[in-house]
Amino acid sequence: MKQDVIAIDGPAAAGKSTVASRIAEKLGAHYVNTGNMYRAVTYSALRTGLKSPFDRKKIKEMLENIDINYVTGTDGKLILTMDGKPAGTEIRAPEISRHVSEIAAMPEVRDWLVNRQRQFVSLGTIVMEGRDIGTVIFPDAKYKFFLTASPEVRAKRRLEQSGETADGATIASVAKEIAARDEMDSKRDMAPLRKADDAVLVDCSEMTADEVVDRIYAIVNKSMLQSRKQSINVS
Ligand code: CDP
Repeated sequence: MKQDVIAIDGPAAAGKSTVASRIAEKLGAHYVNTGNMYRAVTYSALRTGLKSPFDRKKIKEMLENIDINYVTGTDGKLILTMDGKPAGTEIRAPEISRHVSEIAAMPEVRDWLVNRQRQFVSLGTIVMEGRDIGTVIFPDAKYKFFLTASPEVRAKRRLEQSGETADGATIASVAKEIAARDEMDSKRDMAPLRKADDAVLVDCSEMTADEVVDRIYAIVNKSMLQSRKQSINVS
């Protein structure tokens, strides 16, 4: 049976978060940003005093003592918490971006998060974004999209997101940082960044966020209507 999931994967700063959260809103679905979960683990490691190159055993020990998860907030939306407190912009800081791919390559970390990520399907329709949602977390997701954009467009967009780049950052320096992260994410052994064979590729280089949302929403909505019609005919 296919999973009631809209999987949105893609490289760094391709615009996944804006698009995925808006699609979730339009569909009345839950939204989970798995990148922020890896960022929260990285934040916790640095706060605990661990340093790169990170020791796998120490990271494993740390995971036994922390809790990172999405919980349902008062408005019904899922919010990411670290040890019970809502995670804020601290997890999007440049220092976290610098270390997150090293942490995300560790099997101990991925195993720890995979179980948490899979459990959300019990809540109903879910829009989940990341790097391995369509390939590993939900290989049987009903809908899969892979968002990409040129390195220059991605660097420009990241520079426009306040607090996410270092002071004095330029398009060239940001492009270099995201290229390094993409390379680490694509070359790791476990759950590397890659398009699932059955994912729809959306090149967002020349599209506004609204256009991307409209395109994805049109595909998902049409197919949802069709399957509703089919189930009415059957019953
Ligand atoms: O927002 P941005 O494109 O900068 O990245 P993110 O979605 O916040 O993800 C941060 C990092 O988490 C990525 O560079 C990956 O190393 C890792 N990640 C992952 O390994 N698997 C996922 N499903 C999501 C993120």
